[in-house]
Amino acid sequence: MKKDKPEVESYFDQYAKDYNYDDLPPGAMRFADDITWHFISKYLPKNLNAKILDAGAGEGYWTQKLIEIGYKNITLLDISQSMLNEAKKRLSEINLEINVQFIKGNIINMKELEENTFDYVFSQYDAVSYCMEPKLAMKELARVAKKNSYVIVSLDTKFSRVLEFIEAEQISELKKLLETNVSNEMGFPSYNLTWEELEECYTEAGLRVLEVVGAPVFVHLVNEEILKKLESNPEIRNELLKIELQNCTNKSLVNFAGHLQMIGKKV
Ligand SMILES: C[S@@+](CC[C@H](N)C(=O)[O-])C[C@H]1O[C@@H](n2cnc3c(N)ncnc32)[C@H](O)[C@@H]1O
Repeated sequence: MKKDKPEVESYFDQYAKDYNYDDLPPGAMRFADDITWHFISKYLPKNLNAKILDAGAGEGYWTQKLIEIGYKNITLLDISQSMLNEAKKRLSEINLEINVQFIKGNIINMKELEENTFDYVFSQYDAVSYCMEPKLAMKELARVAKKNSYVIVSLDTKFSRVLEFIEAEQISELKKLLETNVSNEMGFPSYNLTWEELEECYTEAGLRVLEVVGAPVFVHLVNEEILKKLESNPEIRNELLKIELQNCTNKSLVNFAGHLQMIGKKV
């Protein structure tokens, strides 16, 4: 008998059309994006023909940015065919002569991809948590990366969830998260990690960790209305972003950040 789709696949298949990340309103999420992009850009290969893997690519938000700055050889892999369809639509709209491949696949077993293939590998925003097997996912991301290439992952930090659960008065969910690392707010399970736990996954996969980033480390704790008001002044927004970038690699802040991003190198 055919196995049912994983819940996460059904979720993203169902919501793919509404999943729109462009034009984020002012707020902590936009800071998260700016910081995430800062570190993706920092480690990009010099060669615009470099082979890049966007794993858990969703609707191609980060791939589009890479294409716009000239990268030409990108593979998008995602468990949800509907998210990949949205990515195809988005990328056909920018209509550039590039080599883009779309693969419906699972980050914990990327059997469609050969080892030592990619010059740059990334998986931003949660696929490594949503797959529920972060160690396997990291091994796969490391396997397909070429030696000396960078592997960058980001996901929600385990402890950022603590405040969300307390505010929602979900104490039994909070206890479950702290005891098992598992939460289930969107109708499918997610395995949430501290930076120390993610570093262990990197190391076991043969990746040397170069930077641990919190995105953001301060502004997500600020009252939303106040933050919006501050951001309406571009100078203040720039200053706040600078402050975030100066402090986001301070490991004592990272476990309470909104997102956790990690940069490693295949040794
Ligand atoms: C929050 S979205 C992020 C999408 C994109 N990376 C971005 O930053 O906009 C998470 C994506 O991970 C995908 N995903 C979840 N579990 C996966 C798995 N096991 N293998 C591959 N992709 C997965 C989902 O289908 C979804 O497109």
